[in-house]
Amino acid sequence: MPEPIERPDLGGPFPEHLAVIMDGNGRWAEQRGLRRVFGHREGVNSVRETVTECARMGVKSLTLYAFSVENWKRPRVEVRYLMRLLRRFLLDERATLMDNGVRLRGLGRLADLPGEARRTLEETERLTARNDGMLLRLALSYGSRTELGDAARSLARDVAAGRLDPEAIDDETLRGYLYDPETPDPDLVIRTAGELRLSNFLLWQCSYSELFVTDVCWPEFRKPQLLDALRAYAGRVRRFGGLIDDGPRTEASARQARAGRAS
Ligand code: IPE
Ligand code: IPE
Ligand code: MG
Repeated sequence: MPEPIERPDLGGPFPEHLAVIMDGNGRWAEQRGLRRVFGHREGVNSVRETVTECARMGVKSLTLYAFSVENWKRPRVEVRYLMRLLRRFLLDERATLMDNGVRLRGLGRLADLPGEARRTLEETERLTARNDGMLLRLALSYGSRTELGDAARSLARDVAAGRLDPEAIDDETLRGYLYDPETPDPDLVIRTAGELRLSNFLLWQCSYSELFVTDVCWPEFRKPQLLDALRAYAGRVRRFGGLIDDGPRTEASARQARAGRAS
């Protein structure tokens, strides 16, 4: 049985969908005179703590940017280490995922992953599929431009086959062709290690997400830093282009409001 939800009162709204650009593993290690891979290894402990805390606090969806399509350009030894670490993480954390009622889903060009990592990911997805707690999405070989390219290709095929009328295409049609259309857009995106960019992460889905950047490197991002980010979010006013402060509080409620207007 998952533990009961314990949500801290941070004095304002709480994000339903949290997304994290987990950056700075290499710098964390280099600052300590260690090889970059030690930063990746330590980063796993931050993943475990973030997943567990988010599940306990009742976050509905957590998306972790773990490996981008551009990250394949890194030295072969580092890529191989990261892929082994992914597989190890999935095997070691299955019990924690089950204990916390977490459902796991990969997001990205998963066919690019080495066979063993891909199979372990698929097994873990199957094993956790019936959990009804938090959805954990691991962005792997993920790139937003690739996702939009893949979506455009499928959409063009449907138009060419007469299944889709080009005049009927709107935001929600486009969403339907993305990798995971059911999950509402992130309410809050956290980036660690201080860079002020999205690095090809969920460009379409982050249109109205709140952004929080911390200088803390990912291996040092733990519960206190997570609470700092959630506290900052609680103080944000989201207008979604409107004027009223008592409008939608989350991407999910903004989407419902849009759907209501359309019908
Ligand atoms: C993030 O840390 C992990 C991945 C991108 C896989 P980095 O490896 O990018 O660490 P820095 O940014 O070089 O310090
Ligand atoms: C973003 O970090 C990708 C992940 C966290 C997986 P990078 O380190 O790859 O991004 P850049 O190169 O600093 O933009
Ligand atoms: Mg980096």
